[in-house]
Amino acid sequence: MPRAAVIGVGHHVPERIVTNDDLAQLMDTTDAWIRERSGIAERRWVRPGQSGTELALAASRLALDDAGLPPAAIDLIVYATINPDHAFPGNGPFLQHALGIDTVGALDIRNQCTGFVYGIAAADGFIRAGTARTVLVVGSEIHSTGLDVSTRGRDVAVLFGDGAGAAVLSAETGERGVLASVLHSQGEFARELWCEVPTALVQGRLNDDLLAQARQYPHMNGRAVFQHAIRRFCEAIEEVLAAAGVAKDDVALFIPHQANQRITEMVTRRLGVDSSRVYSNIERYGNTTAASIPIALSEAARAGRIHRGDLVVLVAFGSGFTWGANLIRW
Ligand code: UT7
Repeated sequence: MPRAAVIGVGHHVPERIVTNDDLAQLMDTTDAWIRERSGIAERRWVRPGQSGTELALAASRLALDDAGLPPAAIDLIVYATINPDHAFPGNGPFLQHALGIDTVGALDIRNQCTGFVYGIAAADGFIRAGTARTVLVVGSEIHSTGLDVSTRGRDVAVLFGDGAGAAVLSAETGERGVLASVLHSQGEFARELWCEVPTALVQGRLNDDLLAQARQYPHMNGRAVFQHAIRRFCEAIEEVLAAAGVAKDDVALFIPHQANQRITEMVTRRLGVDSSRVYSNIERYGNTTAASIPIALSEAARAGRIHRGDLVVLVAFGSGFTWGANLIRW
């Protein structure tokens, strides 16, 4: 049976760098608070009018170049974002058109910070089933236009950034490819990290009362998210390794979703792995939800941190709650 091998990766982030000091001009916060609590020094924000599809297109072209394939080789797009350019349709069809390719399937998925992990698992499933041979998996996010950048929203606003990453997956029968994936959700905690409106539960989806209560912005119970994240990151890693019968020590690189440097460090300690085997770039980009893993994966590959034959674990936790992991032989 074929499985999905990652044959190309790419990423693209907006040019505009927003530092912690820039945010301190907008709200009551400090560079020291943000660095100490999250490890973030700066993040990228789009310019007015720049779309998530545009970021995804740039990342996708780089991933295709890396794979040595033309866009026409893609026979399925899997696009993860919680920030689509419009209420509907999702960004998948926009990306299909922007790439100028045939009328291939475009699967839009959400799954928040776990979006890319779900996307890889879905792509692998399609490839194993024989439904697709070459799948473009994208994670792209624009958070900056949806954040409450006042003191009221500072606990969330300082954490999130914009960007996109992509991977090209191809059907292969050899050693390499996705060896195992695990996916989870726990909706009882959906409201611990969510954005309530626009909502189909309200006529018109939005109204002045909801806007006045700031319910169009993401809200988060930071402490609860923090605690669950550490537990679930560790569990997902153990579970995906067990599913493939692989030992922790055999993994060359762990690429966790970049939620918070303190979370990454606690997970690293709890797993008992050396921090040199855990990738981190949150200092430069903040949390880019579904884009964070593919940006990190692309950076790590370009920096020579992953070699052919290496085992790589992608692991994420986020709103939903959702969490999961993929184990990939490079
Ligand atoms: O993919 C999942 C995405 N989310 C996460 O990973 C977030 C997980 N949670 C966290 O990373 C942390 O909970 C935070 C970084 C969000 C917050 O850190 P904390 O140590 O849990 O702080 P806290 O929420 O308990 O707040 C401590 C204080 C509060 O003031 P008082 O009540 O002690 O006076 C907050 O109002 O810090 C205040 N605060 C801030 N101060 C300066 C909250 N946000 C800020 C801010 N700047 N941006």
